[in-house]
Amino acid sequence: MRKPVIAGNWKMYKTIGESVDTALSLKPLVANANHCEVVLAPVFTAIKTVADRLEGSNVNVAGQDCSTEIEEGAHTGEVAAFMLRDAGARYVIVGHSERRQMYAETDSMVNKKTVAGISAALTVILCVGESLAQRDQGIAENVVSGQLRGGLSRLTASDLDRIIVAYEPVWAIGTGRTATPEQAQEMHAFIRRVFAEGHSASAGAAQGLRIIYGGSVKPENISGLMAQPDIDGALVGGASLKAESFAQIVNYKK
Ligand code: PGA
Repeated sequence: MRKPVIAGNWKMYKTIGESVDTALSLKPLVANANHCEVVLAPVFTAIKTVADRLEGSNVNVAGQDCSTEIEEGAHTGEVAAFMLRDAGARYVIVGHSERRQMYAETDSMVNKKTVAGISAALTVILCVGESLAQRDQGIAENVVSGQLRGGLSRLTASDLDRIIVAYEPVWAIGTGRTATPEQAQEMHAFIRRVFAEGHSASAGAAQGLRIIYGGSVKPENISGLMAQPDIDGALVGGASLKAESFAQIVNYKK
């Protein structure tokens, strides 16, 4: 049984005060959500305060990124995965398409971040997804399998249960255009097959892998997505910024 994960990615929105307000408004609205893991990813500067204020609740905190470097050192502007853990995060998002596109992150950097996250005992949400041009060219599966293999190389079997894959087609992020449940299901099933091929030694790993969908997830479309057999949750951007809409997504079953 794969426990669903509903994660809110706040991107570069909200001050510390606004982050705490939203997190505290969310807390009672999702207090009975035992059917899934609830995660919020505030900006770095708000992680510690939000994590402290959510302590003891069922809402977890994530970093939106981490350094490729595992150890502390002379890396101006970077934040190490173990520092996120120290600040109260239990998850980290790596390889988001905005980082790949705007900050030129490569699969090899994403792989180092994944390894760093795991070494800091964080659960890593590894994002993959094709652009519209790549989908139109018919190479969406090649792109996604390349990102997956690149992102997961060097991992041992015991690392794999710390991985969540987020399929986020770039053309669906922030555009209001969601993949249909069928399009998403098709790619999620493909990701599970690629994962099974890459990790045949650890039987069951692919069946246990949680694959979440991201890209214009809203209260109106979450149930259709979650009804698909290989969709194990959602990574939510815009609709996670307000406690009420994010809570509706978390509580999709009710
Ligand atoms: P969106 O963003 O829900 O606003 O499309 C999703 C994401 O980028 O993770």
